[in-house]
Amino acid sequence: MARRLPLTKMKSFPLSKVYGLLETGPVVMLTTSRDGKANVMTMSWHTMLDFEPPLIGCVVSNRDYTFEILRKTKECVIAIPTVEIAKKTVEVGNSSGRGGTDKFKKFGLTTLPAACVQAPLIKECYANLECKVVDAAMVNKYNFFVLEVQKAWIDPARKNPRTIHHMGNGIFMVAGRTIKLPSKMR
Ligand SMILES: Cc1cc2nc3c(=O)[nH]c(=O)nc-3n(C[C@H](O)[C@H](O)[C@H](O)COP(=O)(O)O)c2cc1C
Repeated sequence: MARRLPLTKMKSFPLSKVYGLLETGPVVMLTTSRDGKANVMTMSWHTMLDFEPPLIGCVVSNRDYTFEILRKTKECVIAIPTVEIAKKTVEVGNSSGRGGTDKFKKFGLTTLPAACVQAPLIKECYANLECKVVDAAMVNKYNFFVLEVQKAWIDPARKNPRTIHHMGNGIFMVAGRTIKLPSKMR
């Protein structure tokens, strides 16, 4: 039986599920390219580190094929999908390009050339961020890459992009209503 704290209704929560409480950022796809061959994975473990130039920290597991390519080429694109392509996004994350599978073709995603990196943009995504790895000091210990956004693209036709947010175990929150408050955070 789960232990309860005496005067509260607080219940012990498994440490293995903590990430789902804080995982507010959108699920993204990360594309890479090596020797003219592009690959794509799904990623939800990322965080903003600075405003401008935008710095993003992300964890790419060393079990992923992407890890090798990212470490070698030091370039990628972070493509931000919306709920319309949620199923494809998860399918991309459930399979590996290591065996030569072309996941863009397999899951019906269209690549577009980027301006500053070899990795492709994804046409079906509402935003695409061209990134370079600027700090790999924590890669060996945490698989943590620091990326600097070199160029950002947005689809102006998409007015209310409804991003998807991973809560763990295949459950996703879909971004919806927005509210405006006098926040000092720009
Ligand atoms: C919703 C979702 C979120 C994911 N988030 C991450 C992540 O943040 N970091 C990571 O290394 N893998 C993550 N994955 C797993 C990779 O996308 C998966 O291992 C993928 O097969 C790697 O592809 P690759 O071997 O072609 O690089 C996620 C998968 C899903 C479905």
